[in-house]
Amino acid sequence: MNNKFYKFFDQIKDDLGVRKSSFIKIFKYLDELKGPINIVETGCLRIKDNYAGDGQSTLLFDKYTLSREPGSKVYTVDIDQNATKICKSVVSENVEVNTGDSVQYLIELMKRLKLEGKKISLFYLDSFDVNWQFPHQSAAHHLKELTAIIDSISENTLVVVDDAPIFLPMQIENKKYQAITQHPAPGAFVGGKGYLINEYANTCGAKIFFSNYQTAWIGFKKK
Ligand SMILES: C[S@@+](CC[C@H](N)C(=O)[O-])C[C@H]1O[C@@H](n2cnc3c(N)ncnc32)[C@H](O)[C@@H]1O
Repeated sequence: MNNKFYKFFDQIKDDLGVRKSSFIKIFKYLDELKGPINIVETGCLRIKDNYAGDGQSTLLFDKYTLSREPGSKVYTVDIDQNATKICKSVVSENVEVNTGDSVQYLIELMKRLKLEGKKISLFYLDSFDVNWQFPHQSAAHHLKELTAIIDSISENTLVVVDDAPIFLPMQIENKKYQAITQHPAPGAFVGGKGYLINEYANTCGAKIFFSNYQTAWIGFKKK
């Protein structure tokens, strides 16, 4: 299955840098789902061929859905019209590219997809660039996105946040890194764009599916 997609993906996956292993996991997860596959993304491809910097997610999702069952589709939004213009020039017409604020867009899109009876396989949240020293604004924006989509999450929906790495307090001795695990050092935690979504996941029982540079959760919707 998906030979056409993996022919493309195998050529570019090494360029994905810190996102390589998580994109492999995302597509493996989607491979296990019965189609059609609907992907909703916030923050679209804004620079051509910038695999290592941003990820080129919209292009990857475009190629993936084109290789799946008919009716598979990508929906993406970006507040910057230059970004959506570049994105449209790179992806196929199977991607609905919208310009506007992601939270407002998601609220309207979720109403429309519900009327159309469509289920979302993957939410990929990657808007509002993160300031690593002060991630609160970006994390709050991504939590707002989650509130806009929460009723559209089903048992199989994967929620992925980019730039949401797992952190662990470290010490360096003799140029060797070692995790500080003793009390009162905190345990591993998700930071960046995803830290408030992870707080919510912890309280509602959603589980981390993977976490390295990107973090993914399943189980926001209880069976
Ligand atoms: C990191 S980039 C997205 C990269 C893309 N996912 C990729 O893999 O190439 C983040 C994008 O989010 C957009 N953005 C920032 N605030 C936003 C908002 N409130 N609503 C929608 N998009 C927003 C920015 O314009 C920017 O293009």
